[in-house]
Amino acid sequence: MPNVKNAVISDLDNASSARESASLDLGRLWAAIKRRRGLVVGWTGAFLALAIVYLLLATPMFLATAQIIIDAESDAVMHKGDAPDAATIDTSLVDSQVEIIASDATARSVIRSLGLTSDPEFVGPSSTAVGRLIGWFTDGVAGMQNALGIQQGPLPDAESRAVEVFDRNLTVRRTGLTYVITIGFSSQDPAKSERIANAVADAYMDSVLNAKYEATKRAGTWLQNRLSDIRAQATDADRAVEEFKVANNIVDTNRGLMNQQQLSELNTQYSLARAATAEAKAKLDRAEDIRKNPLGASTVSDAINDPVISRLRAQYLDLAAKESDLSTRIGPNHYSTIALRNHMQEIRKSVQDELNRISDGYQSDYRIAQERELAIGKSLRGLVTDSDANSLAQVKLKDLESSADSTRALYNDFLQRYQVATQKQSFPIADARIVTKATEPLRKNSPKTLLVLAGGIAFGLMVGLGAAIAGDMLSDTFATPQDVEAATGAPCLGVLPLIKTARPATMFRRRGGATNLLLFQNGPETYVLDAPFSRFAETIRNVKVSIDALRTPGSDACRIVAVTSSVPGEGKSTTAANLAQLVALTGKRTLLIDCDLSTRTLTARLAPNAKVGLLQALANMAPLSALAIVDPRSRLEFLPCVSPGRILSRADLMASPSMSDFLAAARRSYDYVIVDLAPIVPVVDARAVAEFIDGFLMVIEWRATSRKVVAEALSVDGIRERVIGVTLSKVNIRQLKHHEEYRGKGFGAYYTDG
Ligand SMILES: Nc1ncnc2c1ncn2[C@@H]1O[C@H](COP(=O)(O)OP(=O)(O)OP(=O)(O)O)[C@@H](O)[C@H]1O
Ligand SMILES: [Mg+2]
Repeated sequence: MPNVKNAVISDLDNASSARESASLDLGRLWAAIKRRRGLVVGWTGAFLALAIVYLLLATPMFLATAQIIIDAESDAVMHKGDAPDAATIDTSLVDSQVEIIASDATARSVIRSLGLTSDPEFVGPSSTAVGRLIGWFTDGVAGMQNALGIQQGPLPDAESRAVEVFDRNLTVRRTGLTYVITIGFSSQDPAKSERIANAVADAYMDSVLNAKYEATKRAGTWLQNRLSDIRAQATDADRAVEEFKVANNIVDTNRGLMNQQQLSELNTQYSLARAATAEAKAKLDRAEDIRKNPLGASTVSDAINDPVISRLRAQYLDLAAKESDLSTRIGPNHYSTIALRNHMQEIRKSVQDELNRISDGYQSDYRIAQERELAIGKSLRGLVTDSDANSLAQVKLKDLESSADSTRALYNDFLQRYQVATQKQSFPIADARIVTKATEPLRKNSPKTLLVLAGGIAFGLMVGLGAAIAGDMLSDTFATPQDVEAATGAPCLGVLPLIKTARPATMFRRRGGATNLLLFQNGPETYVLDAPFSRFAETIRNVKVSIDALRTPGSDACRIVAVTSSVPGEGKSTTAANLAQLVALTGKRTLLIDCDLSTRTLTARLAPNAKVGLLQALANMAPLSALAIVDPRSRLEFLPCVSPGRILSRADLMASPSMSDFLAAARRSYDYVIVDLAPIVPVVDARAVAEFIDGFLMVIEWRATSRKVVAEALSVDGIRERVIGVTLSKVNIRQLKHHEEYRGKGFGAYYTDG
C-alpha cells in the first residue's frame, strides 16, 4: 500500500542512539525529575530524618586547641656558625614535628601522666552510636570465633586501647605554610579536652628539650673521649720533638738554633782575621823595602811613622849637607869632612838597626795574624761539616714540630666545642614554644547541627535526583510521543489518557437477556461517546483524520483498519471500539469486528450474550447484516466472535480465503471496517491476516511496553509496511504535562472529560 507511511524502525541501535541524544536533553531531565519528584522528596526526607536521628543520638564532643610555634630564631642563636640557620628550617621539618606530636609516644606519655587508662571515655565501651555498633559487631565476631575455637590474637592492654581512642580524638595540623602547629583534642568533657590539649603541647615541649639534652649529652661524652685522645696525642708529639732535639744535639736560643749562630759568628771572625793577616803582611813588605834603602825616597821612609828614624834621618840629612859644603870648601879629605862622614856612617847604622827592629816586629805580627786566621778557618770548616750532618735532622724536626702544632690546634678546637656542649647540656633551649594554651571550649564541636542537617538534605537530594534521572535513563519504555517517533519512525497520532471515571468493563457484563443489545454503558470502550471533548476523543479523532488522509474519494483504499499492539493488555480493544464509535457517529457505515480469536474481550465486554458472530460469517452461515449487532447511539455495527472453546487453527483461519472473501465483502458493504486484532508478538494472527488489512494502528502502553518488544513487533513483514501510526495509551496526563510544558499553559483547556 503505497500511501501508508512506510516508517517502521526495527533497528534497536537506532532506537538506543536516539535515546542517547535525548538523554542529553536538559528539559527531559527536568521533566524526569518533576515526574519522579516523589522519589526526590522521599529520599531527601529519609536522609533528613536520618540526620536528625543521628543528631539526637550522637554524643556531643568538645574541641580544645593549643598552638605551638617551631621557633627558628632561638635555634639559630645557639647554633650560630655550626648549624643550619633559620632559613633552612623548611616545610619537612615542621611536618616532622606534626608527626612527632601525633605519635604514639606522645600519646602514651600524656595517657600516663593524666592517668587516662582509668578513664571510661578511653577504655570503656564506645559512647558514640557508630562506635557502639562496631563494638557489638566485633564482640559478636569474637564470640563466634570463640565458639568455633578459632585462635584470637592477644587482647590489647588498657593503654593500647586508650591510645587508640586518644589518636581518634587528637588532631594535629600545620596552619597553612606557617611554623605554627595546632593541636586539637575532642572529648565529651570540655574541661578534659582543654587538659589533654595542653598536656599534649607540654609533652611535646618536654620531648623537644629531652631530645636536645640527650643529643648534647651524647655529643659531650663523645667530645670528652676525643679530647683525652687528642690530648695524649699532643703530649706525645711535643715529647717527640724534645727527645729528637736532645738526640741530635739541637739547642734552641733566642736567636735561633745554636749551630746557625756559631757559624755566622765564626764567619765574621774569619774574615776579620784574614784582613788582619793581609794588613800585617803589607806592613812587613813595606818595612822590608825601606830596610833595603833606609835613607832613600822620603815617601817610603815616611811610611814608617817612627820618631827615632825620623829624627836620625833629619840628622843624617843635616850632616850630609854640611859634608858636601865642607868638601867643596876645604876638600873631601879634610879631617872635619872625614869626621862628618864617619858621623853620617854611624847615623846610617843606627837607622839600619832601628829598621831591623821594626821589621822584626812586623814579622812577628804577621805570623801571629797568619796563625789566628788558620785557627779560625779550621774551626769554621769543622762547623760547616757539622751543620751538613745536621740538616737532615732539621727536616725531621720541622715535621715533628708541625704535627705537634696541628695536634695542639685540634685539641684547642675540641676543647672549645666541649665547653659549649657542656654549657648547652646544663641549659638546653627548645626550638619551639607554646603560642596559645588551650582553653575550655564553650560550645560543642561535633556533631555540627547545621552541617549534618544540610548534609542530610544534600545527600538525600543527590540520591533522589540520581534515582529519578537514572530511573528515567534506564527506563526502556516510551514516555512521550517524541520518544515514540524517534524510536519507531512512525508518526505518533496522539496520547490516550488513562480513563479514571471508567469502571471496569466487566462490571457491565450481564448474563442472559437480549443478544442484540450492546452494553455500551459508560465503559472505556464507549468513552468517545461519553466524553466527546476529552483529549482521548481528540486523539481518536486524529486517528480518523490520519486514516482519511490516506483515502482517496471513490476508491476503497484504507477501508480496513486493524488495531493491534505488541503485547497483550495495551488497550487495543478499547482503542478499536472507540475509533469505531467515533467513525460511526459521523454517519458512515462502520463495522467493528472482534478478530482477537484468543481472548475475544470485545465480545465479552460489548455483547456478552451474543450467540453468533465472526466464525459463522466466515462459514457463510448467515449474512453479515444478520450477524452484526447495532449500537443504538452511534449506529455502529459490531461483529462479535463467539466460540464454545478455544480455536485451534486461528492462524489458518485468519489467512484463509474465506477470511479474504469475508473482508472483501465487508469492504464493499461498509465505509470503514475496524478490526480488533490479537497482539503481534505472542501470536501469529495479526501477521496471518495482514495482507487483507489496509492499515495498522499500533497501540503502545505509555511507560509500560518495552522498546525492544515494540521494535520486534514493528519488524514483522506485512505489518511493517502498513503502519498508519502509533498511539500511546493509558497515559497519565499529569505526568505527561511535564513533557508538554513547551505547548503552553492553556493547552489543556480545550479538553474536558465527561
Ligand atoms: N485509556 C484507558 N484508560 C483506562 N483504562 C484503559 C484504557 N485503555 C485500556 N484500558 C483498560 O486496560 C485493560 C486492557 O485493555 P484492552 O482490553 O483494551 O487491551 P487489549 O490490548 O485489547 O488487551 P488484550 O490483548 O487482552 O486484548 C482493560 O481493562 C481496559 O479497560
Ligand atoms: Mg483486546
